[in-house]
Amino acid sequence: MQKSYESNYAIELKGISKVFGTVVANDNINLNIKYGEILALLGENGSGKTTLMNMLSGIYYPDAGTISIAGNDISIGSPNDAIDYGIGMIHQHFKLVDVFSAMDNIVLGTKGKYEKPKILKEKILNISNKFGLEIEPEKKIYNMSVSEKQTVEIMKVLYRGAQILILDEPTAVLTPQETEKLFIILRKMKEQGSAIIIITHKLHEVLDISDRVAILRKGKLIDTVKTSHTNENELTELMVGRPVSLKIERPETKYKKTILNVVDLSVESEDGTPALKNVNFKLKRGEILGVAGIAGSGQKELCEAIAGLVEIKGGAVLCNKENIIGKSPDEIINLGISMSFVPEDRLGMGLVGSMGMVENVMLKSYKKKKGFFIDTKPSRKLSEELVKKLDIVTQNIDMPVRMMSGGNVQKVLLGREIESNPNVLITAYPVRGLDINSSYLIYDLLNEQKKKGVAILFIGEDLDVLLELSDRIMVLCHGEVKGIVNAQETTKEEIGLMMTGMSLKGDDQDE
Ligand SMILES: Nc1ncnc2c1ncn2[C@@H]1O[C@H](COP(=O)(O)OP(=O)(O)OP(=O)(O)O)[C@@H](O)[C@H]1O
Ligand SMILES: [Mg+2]
Repeated sequence: MQKSYESNYAIELKGISKVFGTVVANDNINLNIKYGEILALLGENGSGKTTLMNMLSGIYYPDAGTISIAGNDISIGSPNDAIDYGIGMIHQHFKLVDVFSAMDNIVLGTKGKYEKPKILKEKILNISNKFGLEIEPEKKIYNMSVSEKQTVEIMKVLYRGAQILILDEPTAVLTPQETEKLFIILRKMKEQGSAIIIITHKLHEVLDISDRVAILRKGKLIDTVKTSHTNENELTELMVGRPVSLKIERPETKYKKTILNVVDLSVESEDGTPALKNVNFKLKRGEILGVAGIAGSGQKELCEAIAGLVEIKGGAVLCNKENIIGKSPDEIINLGISMSFVPEDRLGMGLVGSMGMVENVMLKSYKKKKGFFIDTKPSRKLSEELVKKLDIVTQNIDMPVRMMSGGNVQKVLLGREIESNPNVLITAYPVRGLDINSSYLIYDLLNEQKKKGVAILFIGEDLDVLLELSDRIMVLCHGEVKGIVNAQETTKEEIGLMMTGMSLKGDDQDE
């Protein structure tokens, strides 16, 4: 363990522990970070990353240990204390006031709100220029993309003079291009002497942005390694505690029957512009059809249209030759179509926070049953199975899901959908926010369903995964299908070109 009393350390954590009930979320953590350094914090879902950072941002108070900033032992009793000590944290769920402008949010709770707007704007623009942030001070939050909101959060922290920046999974919701922009900002901050801690499950990002990596496992700090001396395999092994195969199977299946037939499907977005334009594809039993596309190319509308959640402008969706357009979401579920969409903010995924896993699993299954006597046994059994299959970290299956770590909540939701024995499984961004081991467990579960004959529409962001897992890949761009290709006969480059609008007539839709 590093032990140093040099004051060039921005933060030193000495013997930090935090316990929730019987769970030791952080166990005697010793960790430090220098000014001008980017530290990546890596660990499986539920390993204690957010808890540790929440003690630096004043949300939790440690049960044991000391924290020092620039060589001085301090006590962080509240988020305001943290700000006074120059610590700013960007949380997974943004804390902005939607109806306010960027500028109003930035000065909220500071003396800046008494400042003349002109002077204030100048100050904000000065910071923007210094760190390369793109910000429109007058723009309202509700008009902003996720990435713009994140920039406002960062500006808020910089405006308060933070020298230490903590980002909890900032890239889980960003496109690769937006992530690159964020990394440029972080590198600028590092050059100016800031200390930065970033949590991300994407190992290529860890290798790209950090100087050192600290690995947590089950609440303990396992090691800190220099980024230039490590690689993806070593990091995975440190995290999980054993070697993990990062290979995805692509089982052959014998099924031939088309189960879902989407014909000339058109959907308009809320503002009346076309979101899907004459989309045509077929999905067979036992097939995984991957969907690739830049974020906002119609993926959401496609999912919602099939699930009966949006109005259709034109076309048909046939499930076993029955047109499902006009049916209610419940009727569509009863036909065996299951849809899970992990939204950018990962909230609102259809779980009830105050309920435990069993009750949440039940919410899904009891819809299918008639009569009011509800047997909890099957849900209990399924919950127990899910905990094992997906390595879900929870004290027990009746603990309210809101007490679980972000990734574990998501595993409950996905497990529930995947194991609901659907005919058609539509899953969008299932591994957003999941650790690497869990992500591969999800791919395994999808393959298990595929072998049983489930037809799977898999909407993903990671092209490597899409190429390995899918049988065919459909590429969307501006709501149009640019081509459907055999995953084993295409390349990342070809998919990339189609994503930016190049059409390819490789449509292999034979029956
Ligand atoms: N308020 C709480 N009450 C009870 N248990 C909690 C609470 N907050 C966290 N925990 C538990 O502490 C452990 C660590 O959770 P934490 O959120 O720090 O994990 P994490 O590493 O950030 O995971 P993820 O990658 O999924 O975000 C988990 O077992 C979680 O259930
Ligand atoms: Mg977390």
